[in-house]
Amino acid sequence: MYTLPSIASDTRIHVDFPPMMQEHMMANMRDHLSALQTITQQLSVQQFDAAADIAEQRLGMSAMDSHGASHMGKLMPKGMAIIGTEMHHAASRFAIAARDAEVDGGLEKAFGALSEVMQQCVACHIAYKIHQ
Ligand code: HEC
Repeated sequence: MYTLPSIASDTRIHVDFPPMMQEHMMANMRDHLSALQTITQQLSVQQFDAAADIAEQRLGMSAMDSHGASHMGKLMPKGMAIIGTEMHHAASRFAIAARDAEVDGGLEKAFGALSEVMQQCVACHIAYKIHQ
């Protein structure tokens, strides 16, 4: 379990992206958060397939191309790129778990898989920053 560090102990690695890429990445980030919100909302009303579609299209492997992830990944430190790729994989695994929940109704696996997606958000945010 991760606990919030004090500002004084900010040990994140600063990654220097060109301004356009920074903007692009931050726009992606805001969309990621919005996607998570929509996914949890859809799960709460048992719209599992809809949750799966959003996860796949906006966070999953399908999102990698539309978000220019391979291009951005090349400019990232290796560890950061690995976490990013793992996030896309985890989101695609969540999509599968959500589609299974559509069939068997059990939410546990879907929530477990969603937590693994969010684990990658947390992992990257602990380790890296692009703003000073
Ligand atoms: C590979 C690394 C990485 C992953 C994975 C990642 N982020 Fe980020 N995110 C960042 C960085 C770097 C910043 C900028 C931090 C800074 O310097 O201010 C950021 C910033 C953000 C912001 C702030 C956007 C703004 O306009 O200020 C949000 C919201 C966010 N991330 C959401 C998410 C969510 C939700 C996920 C997971 C679904 C996620 N991120 C996954 C690296 C990542």
